[in-house]
Amino acid sequence: MSANAESMEKAGLDIRPMTGALGCEIFGVNLARLSDAEFAAIYQAFLDYSVLAFRDQELTQADLADYGLRFGKLEDEPFIPNRAEHPGVYRMTGAGGSKLSTQYLDWHMDHSYQQNPSLGAILYAVDIPETGGDTLFSSNYLAFEALSAPMQEFVSGLTAVHDVLEYGLRSGHLSIRTPEQIQHLAKVREKRPRIEHPLVCTHPETGRKILYINDAWTCSIKELNRIESNALLDMLNRHALHDRFKCRVRWQPKSVVMWDNRCVQHSPICDYSERRELLRVAIHSDWVPS
Ligand SMILES: [Fe+2]
Repeated sequence: MSANAESMEKAGLDIRPMTGALGCEIFGVNLARLSDAEFAAIYQAFLDYSVLAFRDQELTQADLADYGLRFGKLEDEPFIPNRAEHPGVYRMTGAGGSKLSTQYLDWHMDHSYQQNPSLGAILYAVDIPETGGDTLFSSNYLAFEALSAPMQEFVSGLTAVHDVLEYGLRSGHLSIRTPEQIQHLAKVREKRPRIEHPLVCTHPETGRKILYINDAWTCSIKELNRIESNALLDMLNRHALHDRFKCRVRWQPKSVVMWDNRCVQHSPICDYSERRELLRVAIHSDWVPS
């Protein structure tokens, strides 16, 4: 038995991998009353599996925030308007509310358009539709590891540009149809300039290499011309989102799901029209992707 498996067994956790790629469900633990040994085993699972799901958790907003604080400082969420009652906790209701909505987010890593992207986020299901609204995750570790050796070498010397505004225009979340919308864009640009990160980064804790792109915010490759950049990003995005790098979380009431945002993309599936409510905390990281 590996040292990791042994520490998890000692802590009494029942860990069931979701797929061969990433993600696990963890049973036999109450997140509102965690011992230090249980937390240490959960943290190790967080590094090993990148995506964790817990079922049937009875959590207050304070419990959710306290669980998040074990991983680090909680951070403000610039694009989620609804703060819940407890500091650091946000309420997310719906995601468009219609099966035909186009106002959903594509595959992304939270805040990769910032100098310090989030370490991860934790969601708690309060009210969820009978079916639909699953969340998909994809491993950017595996995306790097599955590239051929010459391609790994080539991309390792490149720099990616991340831009919240360009994606906003491309996806229809932002528009330039009216003077007010243009003014709004100018304000977004002032606060959120384009950011550069290496195209291949090293996870600060696991030491594994990450193909550091996401379908939403990564908009170009600095060293290449526009045609080359578009072609390379198109190829890398198609490669990085291959089914063999993924897992899919089906929500249940009182599920808690968290992910390591440094090495995983996620995609919320907007295929439901009923009400949906999740509580969310995001964890700050001082890591500058490198
Ligand atoms: Fe997100």
